[in-house]
This record gives sequence, structure tokens and C-alpha cells, in this order.
Amino acid sequence: MVQYSQRLSRVKGSVIREIFKMMADPEIISLGGGSPAAEGYPLDKVREISDCLLRDHGVAMLDYGLTSGYLPLREAYLEHLVRPKGVEAQVENTIIMTGSGQGIYLVFDVFIDPGDTVLIESPTFLNTINVLRKMDANIVGVAMDEEGIIIEDLEEKIKRHHPKLLYTIPTFQNPTGRSLSLPRRQAIAELAARYDMVVLEDDPYGDVRFRGEPLPPIKSFDESGNVIMLNSFSKTIAPGLRVGAVTAKEEWVQKLELVKQGADTHTATLPQAICAEFLRQGLLPAHLQKVGKIYAERFAAMERGIRQYFPANCEYTRPDGGLFVWARIPGCNTIELNKRAVSEYKVAFVPGQPFFINEDEGLDCLRLNYSSSNVEKITAACQRLGELFASLG
Ligand SMILES: Cc1ncc(COP(=O)(O)O)c(C=O)c1O
Repeated sequence: MVQYSQRLSRVKGSVIREIFKMMADPEIISLGGGSPAAEGYPLDKVREISDCLLRDHGVAMLDYGLTSGYLPLREAYLEHLVRPKGVEAQVENTIIMTGSGQGIYLVFDVFIDPGDTVLIESPTFLNTINVLRKMDANIVGVAMDEEGIIIEDLEEKIKRHHPKLLYTIPTFQNPTGRSLSLPRRQAIAELAARYDMVVLEDDPYGDVRFRGEPLPPIKSFDESGNVIMLNSFSKTIAPGLRVGAVTAKEEWVQKLELVKQGADTHTATLPQAICAEFLRQGLLPAHLQKVGKIYAERFAAMERGIRQYFPANCEYTRPDGGLFVWARIPGCNTIELNKRAVSEYKVAFVPGQPFFINEDEGLDCLRLNYSSSNVEKITAACQRLGELFASLG
């Protein structure tokens, strides 16, 4: 019999994908996904832009493009999303990715050998854990509090494990919704320089803010050049476009180009050009303001629902943006509850454990998405979950 690769055996099925499979039932309300609000997709604008692009630049849209990405997008990305955040960068410092998911994969491809230590926030984005497992990295979790990674724990783990790379989601983190405080952003850039460690700053949510003041990226404090900033258009425009972007020192961008060539030659041109035009026409700020209002309402509904229906000892995060609330209900086993929630109560959420590397962590936690259900559904879902928690006695 033909044997599968050994690295495949290290990949676990995604709980979220499993939940999606169960979602065929229209009665189910999903607080499990990570999509933006469907009502917020800029469909008319995207249609208009696509028509113009195909009419005026049809051949370029359909031909092969550069591996590093569509030049007008790299320029617009720098002008609208990189330099205004205090990051000095030129076109040579950017490369477009097929979603930031590919950016994560290819950065690890460039830097990580089996056995290399990679530090991650504990908890973190579960796809990243899976990619690192597949690469046979030595994954070490760093403790977090309400202000993100705890710097003392980070430095202690750097000294103990000599990591090659730190992976962090500093703003509206997945799964917790937490944001790294300003002094800690500075501290991470300094530690990256002092210990010659790569920092992969994964920031798909930072621009999806519905209140509070923006925080500068870690990359804006990067004097050593060791920080790689990764952004995505998935949460700001639409995930189906599959467009992300990396900003890093030129030498590292060239290495990424090398591995991307073997991965997919280049990111599809039409979606890149749509993103470029969206930025160039100045549409993003108004669009983000519009979806921000939707998210503010939906988060408020979720908070009301949690307070009204969840057990009194439930702790939860109150993000200023992004898509997720992270809740903890002491004494619950959310993996067991998840199946009952879907089959009996018709509500989906993501249990907390898979976001941790250790199997005994996060068992009483759950991730709740507020972006992709309306206020009515969020309220109903919280009520149903409340009934489920109450049934535990
Ligand atoms: C932290 C984080 N990084 C990266 C991604 C991947 O996004 P995409 O590949 O759609 O840009 C996600 C998606 O949910 C995410 O939460």
C-alpha cells in the first residue's frame, strides 16, 4: 500500500472545518467561523472595479504575473497600509501572498527546520500550530495576560530555548481578541534585536477596529530588521479574494519569492488588482467604518447575551475590534459541550483546547465569533448556549 508522508501524520483535522461540515443544517447559528459580516462585503464596488479592470487591462489580468506580486498593489499597500503606520518600506520590501495563511506557511518554509524552536502565544491561531507541527518544529507557548504576551515569560523562554522565531498576532488576537500593549510592542522589537530572533507579526485584524485608538505595529519599532509584518485583505475586504502581503527586509523578501515560486508561481492577478484599486480609490476607510458599526452592534449583542444567559462566573474578553470574544467558564469541558451545542441546541462555537499546544489547556474556554451573525441570531445563540450551560446543573 502506498504510504502517506510522515509529515501528514502530524497534521490534525481542523475543528473549525469539522464544524463547517455540520453547518448544512439551516437552523444552526454559527458563532464558530472567522468570516467578516456577509452584509458588509463591498459587492457592488468589487463588481464595478472588476469590470473596469477586465475592460481596460484584460490581457494583464489573465496573463502570468510577477511572483512578488502586482506592482500597483505593492505600491498601494505601502502607501495606504504600511507607511501611515510608521513603517519605513519600499516596493523591494513587500511581496504579495495568497492570503496571509500562505504568508505564515512560506515564512516557516524559509526559516524553520525540523527541531527548531518557535515561540507562539498561548493560545494562538490553530492553523499556525498545525503548520508548525507538520514542519516538526519544537513549539513552545508563551503566557499571555489581558495585554498580550507577557514579556518576562517571553524573555525567560528565549533564554531557555534559543528560538529561531516568535509568531505573534498582536492586535485583536485569534482566538482571544486581546491586543498587545504599546510598551510590549517596543519590548518585542528590542528582544528580537538582542537575541537575533525572527518575529512574525501576523496582523489580519488590526484595521478592523470599531473603537479605541490604533496601535502601531511591532514592525514600526524594528531597528534590527528582524520583524516580518504580515497583513491580509481577508478581514478588511473579502477572504475569498485570497490576498495577503508581507513587509520585511529585502533579503528575506527574496527568499520568500523563491519559495513562493514553487508554491503557486504568483497570487491570482485579478484579486490583487481589485485590492489595489480598492486602496487607490480610497475606498477602504469608509468601508471599514461601515463594517465597524456592524461589528460594534454585534459585539454589544454578544456581551449582553453573555451577561444575561451565561453562568455568572463566566469570564470573557472585550475587544475593540477584530472578530472574536474568548470566554472561560470554569468547570466546563467545552469539547464535550460543543457536540451537544451543535446537535441539540443548534449553535456552533469553537472549543478552546485546539488553540493550545498542550491537551490539558483551554478545556474550559471557547471562542465566539460575533462578526458573521446578526444581532437577533447572536442573542438567540447566547440564550441557547445559556440553556445548555444551565442543563449541566
Ligand atoms: C491570525 C490569523 N492569521 C492568518 C489567517 C489567515 O487568513 P487569510 O489566509 O485568509 O489571509 C487567519 C484567518 O482566520 C487568522 O486568524
